[in-house]
Amino acid sequence: MAIPAGRWRPRTSLAPTLLLGGLLARVVAAAETPERAYNLTWKSTNFKTILEWEPKPTNYAYKVLISSGSKDWTSKCFSKTDTECDLTDEIVKDVHQTYVAKVLSVPLNGTHFAGDLPYTNSPEFIPYKQTKLGQPRIQSFERVGTILNVTVENSPTAIRRNGTFVSLREVFGKDLSYILHYWRATSTGKKTAKTNTDEFLVDVDKGDYYCFSVEALIPSRNENQRSPQSATECMTQGQGVFRETFFIVGAVVFVAIIFIIILSLSLYNRRKGRGRNGKNAPLHGV
Ligand SMILES: *[C@@H]1O[C@H](CO)[C@@H](O)[C@H](O)[C@H]1NC(C)=O
Ligand SMILES: *[C@@H]1O[C@H](CO)[C@@H](O)[C@H](O)[C@H]1NC(C)=O
Ligand SMILES: *[C@@H]1O[C@H](CO)[C@@H](O)[C@H](O)[C@H]1NC(C)=O
Ligand SMILES: *[C@@H]1O[C@H](CO)[C@@H](O)[C@H](O)[C@H]1NC(C)=O
Repeated sequence: MAIPAGRWRPRTSLAPTLLLGGLLARVVAAAETPERAYNLTWKSTNFKTILEWEPKPTNYAYKVLISSGSKDWTSKCFSKTDTECDLTDEIVKDVHQTYVAKVLSVPLNGTHFAGDLPYTNSPEFIPYKQTKLGQPRIQSFERVGTILNVTVENSPTAIRRNGTFVSLREVFGKDLSYILHYWRATSTGKKTAKTNTDEFLVDVDKGDYYCFSVEALIPSRNENQRSPQSATECMTQGQGVFRETFFIVGAVVFVAIIFIIILSLSLYNRRKGRGRNGKNAPLHGV
């Protein structure tokens, strides 16, 4: 009986120490085992491309590697706080390639960490097929008679060549179309026109004001086919219905102003002349 009792004693006195040790080990392990990244998402518009993921790191850092096809991994961002990495510079090297990125979770003071770093692969990304089309802008519009001419701004992409940004049209060529939505300011019935240049020429009624907006489109795509619509532009009096009348009224006003100026100048001169005579007369009298 004495022996079992003796065995028991050390056990009971050791228990708190073991418990504390276990807790400590767990705390250290928690601090040193980084979490694996998840929900890796490509955010890309006009080739400006950012990889995002979760969660926010606590006491570890993320490192991103990217590769295309059989090429070696290129190391990009290293951050203790960010959950995104701008990979534009890598993907613009060849927008037709298929890219994969890897997000590694790296312990700070990694010497204490044994084993492989946790990592997650991103979905594949083909810039040419998947980058979203940015919101287009209407550069100018004019109406000549019954023809409305709308020109779309040739938006720059994030691709740089010879020090300048390559335009969307230069990258996509005839794969890129624009859709014009146009309607009378007084009604809601919309019409559409399509072009694979940057210019629309559509027939409109002479007597009406029109509003319109444009949308970029790559018909050959399965996803991210359309851009958001541009801001809406509307004709104003100067650019619209009364363009000719406006010029005539302008000419008449111009002539009238010139006439008034000449008239007031001659009146002023006559008054000045009379004033001089008036002053001189008494002097001669004295
Ligand atoms: C991760 O993505 C999935 C779907 O892709 C979503 O249901 C989930 O809510 C996301 N997780 C977080 C924390 O946002
Ligand atoms: C990592 O190690 C350096 C020096 O060895 C120390 O200054 C720093 O506080 C350590 N960082 C963490 C998070 O333990
Ligand atoms: C349409 O407008 C643009 C920009 O003002 C101009 O360059 C182009 O020549 C016009 N097209 C026609 C057919 O008038
Ligand atoms: C840069 O410009 C030069 C001369 O204009 C041209 O020969 C070259 O092909 C251009 N490079 C690229 C990448 O467009």
